[in-house]
Amino acid sequence: MDQNQLKQAVAQAAVDYTLERIEADSIVGIGTGSTANCFIDLIAEHKHKFLATVASSEGSAERLRSHGIQVFELNAVSEVTIYIDGADEANDQLQLIKGGGAALTREKIVTAVANEFVCIADESKWVDHLGTFPLPVEVIPMARSHVARELVKLGGDPVWRENVVTDNGNLILDVHHFYPMGSACELEEKINQITGVVTNGLFAVKPADILFLATQQGIVTHKAKS
Ligand code: 5RP
Repeated sequence: MDQNQLKQAVAQAAVDYTLERIEADSIVGIGTGSTANCFIDLIAEHKHKFLATVASSEGSAERLRSHGIQVFELNAVSEVTIYIDGADEANDQLQLIKGGGAALTREKIVTAVANEFVCIADESKWVDHLGTFPLPVEVIPMARSHVARELVKLGGDPVWRENVVTDNGNLILDVHHFYPMGSACELEEKINQITGVVTNGLFAVKPADILFLATQQGIVTHKAKS
């Protein structure tokens, strides 16, 4: 199977799992990216089985609406039953790097609200150690240079993702050279303490609850160790 077929396969596995978890009044959280797009297209035929969705980007919201799926503002809901999203890297602790699509902040907010965070990825995203993929950091525009200097002090090599403005009106710095990463939780917290950082793409303090990984041998399920 090529990468696109793997994404389709893992999205189908997530649809099957979601259908087991939801009820007629459920809100489903939807992530951003090509794997999340596969999920959106496949869940569309089941749209009558849940109440509505919340989305982690304007792009996903638009795609959902194009399928006739209701999208609610996150502030309008008190509970999100399940959140489905992709990742740029995932390790065996279900810690992730996300934000390749610049949606990391809204993604982190939806995971904070969701009862369960299901990550879906093809096998190319599975790593022994996080940090080969440059770590996205969302910054307030006027703080870009300050944050970049502080990231250098932490050992990183930040590169401004020019021509990208997030859905929140902010900028992205992609930080190279954090490989091999020591404690992902510590680094996540340290970066988030820099004034001007909105958040960074490490999902380590709150990792995924379950990861469906599409491999050439089939879908492998990884669950968070309790
Ligand atoms: C967007 C993300 C995506 O989940 C991540 O970039 C993976 O994308 P894809 O499914 O296209 O490989 O974090 O901000």
